[in-house]
Amino acid sequence: MTPDFKRTLVTAALPYANGPVHIGHLAGCYLPSDIYVRYLRSKGQDVVFVCGSDEHGVPITIKAKRENATPQAVVDKYHHMMKESFAEFGISFDVYSRTSSKTHHETASAFFKTLYDKGGFTEQVTEQYYDETAKQFLADRYITGECPNCGNPNAYGDQCERCGTSLNPTDLKNPKSALSGNPPVLKQTKNWFLPLDQLQPKIQAYLDEHKDWKTTVYGQCKSWLESGDGLQPRAMTRDLDWGVPVPLPNAEGKVLYVWFDAPIGYISATKELLPDTWELYWKSKKTRLIHFIGKDNIVFHCIIFPAMLMEHGEFIVADNVPANEFLNLEGDKISTSRNWAVWLHEYLQEFKDQQDVLRFTLCATAPETRDNDFTWKTFLDKNNNELAAIFGNFINRTIVLTRNYYAGAVPEAKAFTKEDIKVLEQMSTFPDRIGEALDQFKFREGLQEWLNLARLGNKYLTDNEPWKIQNDNPERVKTVMHLALQISVNLAILGEPFLPFTSKKLFTLLNVVPLKWNAARQNTNLHVGHKIDAVLSGILFPKMDQEVIAFQLQKLEKAKEAMLAANSLLEPAKAETSFDDFSRMDIRSGTIVEAERVPKTDKLLKLLIDTGLDKRTVVSGIAAWYKPEEIIGQQVSILVNLAPRKIKGIESQGMILMAENQAGELSFIAPTKGKIINNGDTIK
Ligand code: MF3
Ligand code: ZN
Repeated sequence: MTPDFKRTLVTAALPYANGPVHIGHLAGCYLPSDIYVRYLRSKGQDVVFVCGSDEHGVPITIKAKRENATPQAVVDKYHHMMKESFAEFGISFDVYSRTSSKTHHETASAFFKTLYDKGGFTEQVTEQYYDETAKQFLADRYITGECPNCGNPNAYGDQCERCGTSLNPTDLKNPKSALSGNPPVLKQTKNWFLPLDQLQPKIQAYLDEHKDWKTTVYGQCKSWLESGDGLQPRAMTRDLDWGVPVPLPNAEGKVLYVWFDAPIGYISATKELLPDTWELYWKSKKTRLIHFIGKDNIVFHCIIFPAMLMEHGEFIVADNVPANEFLNLEGDKISTSRNWAVWLHEYLQEFKDQQDVLRFTLCATAPETRDNDFTWKTFLDKNNNELAAIFGNFINRTIVLTRNYYAGAVPEAKAFTKEDIKVLEQMSTFPDRIGEALDQFKFREGLQEWLNLARLGNKYLTDNEPWKIQNDNPERVKTVMHLALQISVNLAILGEPFLPFTSKKLFTLLNVVPLKWNAARQNTNLHVGHKIDAVLSGILFPKMDQEVIAFQLQKLEKAKEAMLAANSLLEPAKAETSFDDFSRMDIRSGTIVEAERVPKTDKLLKLLIDTGLDKRTVVSGIAAWYKPEEIIGQQVSILVNLAPRKIKGIESQGMILMAENQAGELSFIAPTKGKIINNGDTIK
């Protein structure tokens, strides 16, 4: 960490505006960054928190195609949706901008131009994949194929999401166009490349200064530098029509690579927020820049963006990049396309005013050092066993007893016992205990420490049982309740970064204006005689019912079913045929009159069929599903004018029609013989 910094600029990865926010986004990036920023603000530090929608790139155009809408319509829809749900969830960005803004287009263009003028790019004509049906170059996610590194069959042209490797489209094995599904062809085109190979020593030196980064982050970076031939030049422009146009003559039909323009979005957003002072945050060595991201963004934030910034020359680079691993949901990878997610906007509707239960659960189970699983059971347990049973119980007992015994006025503590003094001493250590964890981006640990303060309070009440001694020793009870109230206000102060909504309610319950971090070093925030609120409920976290999660699990079950149906392996329809061709088939109703196995085969039965016209032999591959003795008398449909062929030495004179399911199991297509249908009747 920079030792004597004056201010901190915190960025949270700009989410693609191609879908709503889900819990994976929150746990990976937005919640930890929000907690961190709220903590710094509470400590009185100068901090700016920027984010916005990433509105360019192939993810957007693919979504537009799928929704049959224009890219602009897609980003408009999701930008507003994300912005609103972040705000409602208490993610306290100072600015939430978007990369389609005028400021951003200008900023990104100028950045590119500066690099270009300095000779920071190499110009290369290369062969890029092209979809001849769609008449379009296939950049990034327009192309999928097998990852050369880990074998993932669904890697993208820019990155493998399984192993994190950053790729070029031509690295993929068996490439396929995401537009048409066809194998692409190679076509020549000119683009501008960032010569990362030449910049490797600089990047190496930069990373060497940051061995303090999370091991997962530092380790990933190192392996890119060290694997194979090291860093490779990377195209910073694309042949696409959606994005920031390349600001050069003769660059029609070309835009900036989305991973070139998007991180510049951090700069544009800061400019929009602070038109006069933004440079302080980007150009002063006294500023600490911190990028919060998910692990799939590491290469872009630790290598490519710093390389861009260093080459540009005017800007600072990140001091830390506390990337998280991935959050899974009920044991499965979260997936927008499979609808396997908990969507923030739905949560906010279904759990009105319960943002903090989700904030607490996501923070307590955050994938800080490895992938982790979110389950609704954990959510229920966290609410009932921790928020309600520990913290909520302590607050409610404190509020209720204060109202009952003292009409809501803070009582005086006349004499502290040895135990009381111990509790007081412990209390004052919490700002540092929590703070030290947060300083190291250990949010789970910070939250646990906060809960430990509630545990301390809860235990203190339980040990002293004021409700039992009130009659005999009211003076002692005053001391106990005084202390419990001081713990309560400190819980409100120190809980604010994690549970801002609860903290606010608790301050209101205690009838004090919100206090800042360092106030929690004292045990005297509530003065004797101060009146707490008289009417609000002291129950901050009602217990939740099993049914709440049963409903959520049902929703997921439905998503899974829909996905199975959509992913079914149904054979695509065959090519069109003519009515004449079809009418040449002579299909009749028939009955099996004899059946036996064909010796030395597993699959074949020799059948004798009464076709109404004659009795004829048919060899049929149904032995795996039917025993000969079971099918005597079975009605069948039989193609009678199929040219005879010899199978295992037996002449087969026709073919019976079978239905085949996705598992390859066969069953008869049987006309029901009776009054109307008889052997020999036609099927058309
Ligand atoms: N849109 C990217 C994603 O969702 C993140 C962009 S971060 C930025 O993975 F640095 F480019 F802004
Ligand atoms: Zn891979």
